[in-house]
Amino acid sequence: MIVAEGLTKYYGPKLALVDVSLRVGRGEILGLLGPNGAGKTTMMRVLAGYLPPTAGRAEIAGYDITRQALEARRRIGYLPETVPLYPELTVRAYLDFQARLKGVPARRRRERIATVAERTGAADVIDTLIGKLSRGYRQRVGLAQALVHDPPVLILDEPTVGLDPRQIIETRQLIKGLAGEHSVMLSTHILPEVAMTCQRVAIISDGRVVAEDTPDNLTRRLRGADIVELEIRGPQQDVAAALRGLAGVRQVESQSRDGRLRLRVECELGQDLREQLAATVVGRGWGLLELRPVGMSLEEIFLQLTTKEEELSETA
Ligand SMILES: Nc1ncnc2c1ncn2[C@@H]1O[C@H](COP(=O)(O)OP(=O)(O)OP(=O)(O)O)[C@@H](O)[C@H]1O
Ligand SMILES: [Mg+2]
Repeated sequence: MIVAEGLTKYYGPKLALVDVSLRVGRGEILGLLGPNGAGKTTMMRVLAGYLPPTAGRAEIAGYDITRQALEARRRIGYLPETVPLYPELTVRAYLDFQARLKGVPARRRRERIATVAERTGAADVIDTLIGKLSRGYRQRVGLAQALVHDPPVLILDEPTVGLDPRQIIETRQLIKGLAGEHSVMLSTHILPEVAMTCQRVAIISDGRVVAEDTPDNLTRRLRGADIVELEIRGPQQDVAAALRGLAGVRQVESQSRDGRLRLRVECELGQDLREQLAATVVGRGWGLLELRPVGMSLEEIFLQLTTKEEELSETA
């Protein structure tokens, strides 16, 4: 439903998007995850037809965003980063205006407005002037206008920004509920958000997609190592050296505190070395106080992925 091929965008001399290719299938939710300035908003504005790409092409529901711009735009619900709203309109009047603009037939408008207001939690403020709304409610109205014409494709730029915790949960549920009938691309820099809402994640850094997979696979694929944490009573140098010497161990970090050693042992991916580690420690007569495997969080992967290459070569 969303196809991007080699999208590149310069703002004057500034390169904001570099050769980005992505696909979102029917009924799928793709999360664009990246730090500030990564290019998420740029990507979404290009797809939504608000910004021409410098190079590359994209399709929305089979329509080329440049050559068939009108057809493509009609099939998109877009929640921009800053929602342009009309302060002097009531929420109802604004949604009616948006519904008209997006070609919702007159006989369906009232029902569509009621439905989306209900689903986005904007129903409480339906007769309030937009200018008087709090930030969170504006965000809900923004979401409601993106949904009002029931588009097959949704492009949501940080949909949960500014919402209170309860509304964040409700919005994530709403977005999940949209999958199936709609194809969704959302952006966020909140890591648990992608894991909770998206089936696939594209990690974007400096305008490039540096990884793309399911949240689970990404964790597994990019982990590259299994980590075991140990607490041991024994001489720091000797313990670290002994564990480092085991086949399959990539790295050992140790810290000494109150006569106890805390060790973080990085093993080759897929190698369960817990027994060997335990046997080595016990065999040398040291005290094994604790041993547990640690998974790496998306957060760590994200940091690892978006670490600049210079920094990587320094630590390698
Ligand atoms: N209109 C513009 N003119 C010049 N440079 C721009 C413009 N808009 C964005 N940029 C630059 O392009 C890069 C990507 O910006 P973009 O807004 O797409 O990032 P983002 O991933 O959405 O970040 P955030 O998480 O802060 O919303 C940044 O370096 C930004 O400074
Ligand atoms: Mg942005």
